Amino acid sequence: MKKMKIKPAAGKLGVLIPGFCGAISTTLVGGVEALKAGQAEPIGSLTQMGRIRIGKRTEKKNPLIKDFAPLADIKDLVFGGWDIFDETLYDSALKAAVLERPQIDSLKKRFSAYRPMKAVFSREYVKNLRGSHVKSGKNKLELARLLMDDIKNFKKANSLDRAVMIWCASTEVYIEESSVHSSLEKFERGMAENHPLISPSMLYAYAAIKSGIPFINGAPNLSCNIPALLALAKKEGVPLAGNDYKTGQTLMKTIIAPGLKARMLGVKGWFSTNILGNRDGEVLDDPASFKTKEVSKLSVLESILNSETHPELYGELFHKVRINYYPPRGDNKESWDNIDIYGWMGYPMQIKINFLCRDSILAAPIALDLALFMDLAGRAGLSGIQEWLSFYFKSPMHAKEVYPENDLFVQLEKFENNLRHMMGETLITHLGTEYYK
Ligand SMILES: NC(=O)c1ccc[n+]([C@@H]2O[C@H](COP(=O)([O-])OP(=O)(O)OC[C@H]3O[C@@H](n4cnc5c(N)ncnc54)[C@H](O)[C@@H]3O)[C@@H](O)[C@H]2O)c1
Repeated sequence: MKKMKIKPAAGKLGVLIPGFCGAISTTLVGGVEALKAGQAEPIGSLTQMGRIRIGKRTEKKNPLIKDFAPLADIKDLVFGGWDIFDETLYDSALKAAVLERPQIDSLKKRFSAYRPMKAVFSREYVKNLRGSHVKSGKNKLELARLLMDDIKNFKKANSLDRAVMIWCASTEVYIEESSVHSSLEKFERGMAENHPLISPSMLYAYAAIKSGIPFINGAPNLSCNIPALLALAKKEGVPLAGNDYKTGQTLMKTIIAPGLKARMLGVKGWFSTNILGNRDGEVLDDPASFKTKEVSKLSVLESILNSETHPELYGELFHKVRINYYPPRGDNKESWDNIDIYGWMGYPMQIKINFLCRDSILAAPIALDLALFMDLAGRAGLSGIQEWLSFYFKSPMHAKEVYPENDLFVQLEKFENNLRHMMGETLITHLGTEYYK
């Protein structure tokens, strides 16, 4: 197999973050600064700790992914971003309260050097937030152009070689794809006319693509998932990935559901509830933002437990997801799942999962990996939807003709084989017959 032409990861890589002062962003930036200072281990990150098998099992070749693929080094990362609050990341990290105070204090100098640029924001799209560090412009097209100026200036001021944009800002209200999203021409006209179905997350995505930098959608927002922006990404040769980081409860779902399906066990009901008390929880307390999240969280089971191919096992599946804002818990979300399953001759059984997780501790390494892999994709000349990164998302972007791949194990194989393909290595089929000849 021929290795793809990949530009070297020379120079500095900008990581531009809408939602710079949020819980995920501060945990990501703090984590990377702690790594650089030798104060922490990159647990949960495939780019930093993961290995990949190359060749036959007898060859025993399992290099670190970062030694196998030419990824940017974390010492070359430069963070920047936008937020509606004008404060240093030191103050933001204290408010987010994901990292413990002594750790935040030990990084005070580094955190204090970061401050967000003015955001493109409107309460129309995130009802439970109020902030004044916001750009003004005569219309949405002008706002997008201001974001493009920010990107250009940031790259210049920090002598960057390349950049990626990764959405870590709040979940917006539910928006359905409509005519204004259907072509680039209509979308650009819509921006000039301040069309209400064009949200800030679409303007950031537009600005990133127009600036030639990969865009990652970490929230369930419609954002770049519209024909206008998909076409623009292809035209500009820019890779896109999304949507909605797969962190706690949904990660568990996509680990367990494939196992039940593999054993041909039936599932009658799956009830998932959460309590969480961070700002994300407060935003999701608004029904319009919750609806966006609900659609994303609900989508995973149907493609794994396919009711069309197995109506007798999954035809009656009742799937319910609740998120309850409960401030005392902060970022330390607790989730409960009750799964009603049935086995041989239809006899019922139950599974209970109680996951006491830390949302942003799970999300930060995902954001780091995505920034590095999307930079790799850009240097490899890949554009449009990067389905091989489905592994990281609750509702992965996919071509219209195919269903999304949600099974974590299929996603991992797809991811690894895509890396092997990029690097010109033989794909692994797990056939294994060669060992028994
Ligand atoms: N934490 C997780 O495990 C997790 C998992 C999957 C998805 N997500 C999604 O990731 C996003 C970030 O999560 P979080 O926990 O860091 O939330 P957060 O509320 O702590 O941070 C979001 C930040 O975005 C800012 N913001 C909102 N709108 C903005 C805009 N238009 N421009 C710039 N900044 C804006 C807010 O002021 C806030 O500082 C949310 O959409 C969340 O639903 C989080």
